[in-house]
Amino acid sequence: MLSSFPAGSRALVQGASRGIGLEFVRQLLAEPAVGQVFAGCRFPDQAGDLAALAATEPRLRVVPIDVTDEAGIARAARAVADQTDRLHLVVNCAGVLHGGPAQLAPEKRLADVRPEALAASFAVNAFGPLLVAKHFERLLAHRERAVFASISARVGSIGDNRLGGWYAYRGAKAAQNMFTRTLAIEWARSRRNLVCVALHPGTTDTDLSRPFQANVAPDKLFDPGRTVRQLLAVIDRLTPADSGRFYAWDGSEIPW
Ligand SMILES: NC(=O)c1ccc[n+]([C@@H]2O[C@H](COP(=O)([O-])OP(=O)(O)OC[C@H]3O[C@@H](n4cnc5c(N)ncnc54)[C@H](OP(=O)(O)O)[C@@H]3O)[C@@H](O)[C@H]2O)c1
Repeated sequence: MLSSFPAGSRALVQGASRGIGLEFVRQLLAEPAVGQVFAGCRFPDQAGDLAALAATEPRLRVVPIDVTDEAGIARAARAVADQTDRLHLVVNCAGVLHGGPAQLAPEKRLADVRPEALAASFAVNAFGPLLVAKHFERLLAHRERAVFASISARVGSIGDNRLGGWYAYRGAKAAQNMFTRTLAIEWARSRRNLVCVALHPGTTDTDLSRPFQANVAPDKLFDPGRTVRQLLAVIDRLTPADSGRFYAWDGSEIPW
């Protein structure tokens, strides 16, 4: 149970149509301290599980957000600001590894690198959380504790990279990490109660990891419920001294 958030806390989860983001929405709604959850999702009409949740849960509002559309992010921020003057938690979950219009496929070697795939991966994985920060910042500018958490991936760690490959995803997650760190430095000066971190969820059984699960030991493959319980426990323990860091699901720090 979340203990470090004030009663009536308000949260935004973007990338909430499925996978880890949808599970964040479910678990936040089960938290007594959480008064309202905004769920960002690019195609609300196609997000059946999220719509079903919203139909029975008056604390949940679905907000259209495609993180590759800055004007749309700005519109979403205005729509949320019409309903609340503050957010205590923002979780950036939207991410891509394979598929989509650019037909992303993790590269095994240099010859597989394609500019369209690089651009598509960077647009969602790296630019998305930064633009969400830009437009939602004013809702985080209050005196209560707030957390801005971006779900990254261990493969985005430069220091931890021993296997290579996956250029578009690794590069975009490394850029996301750099943006997180840079944002934390700016906010440490201006928004002292705001903690800004990157989080690695661990390999989680979702559409994103499904084609790559063959070599993952069963005890290393988490269901989304476990992943989100672990990440919420990490988020709950964060203090301003942790801002600008990269944490794994078990609370251990990952080198940038
Ligand atoms: N699963 C893992 O093992 C794992 C490991 C490390 C890191 N991660 C990270 O965890 C995060 C969540 O991944 P997941 O496993 O939950 O993946 P997932 O089940 O494939 O879900 C991805 C989510 O991102 C959304 N999304 C994609 N492009 C978007 C866009 N342009 N605008 C808004 N939303 C967009 C999808 O929405 P639509 O339904 O509209 O496509 C979906 O809600 C990602 O950042 C991923 O990189 C996952």
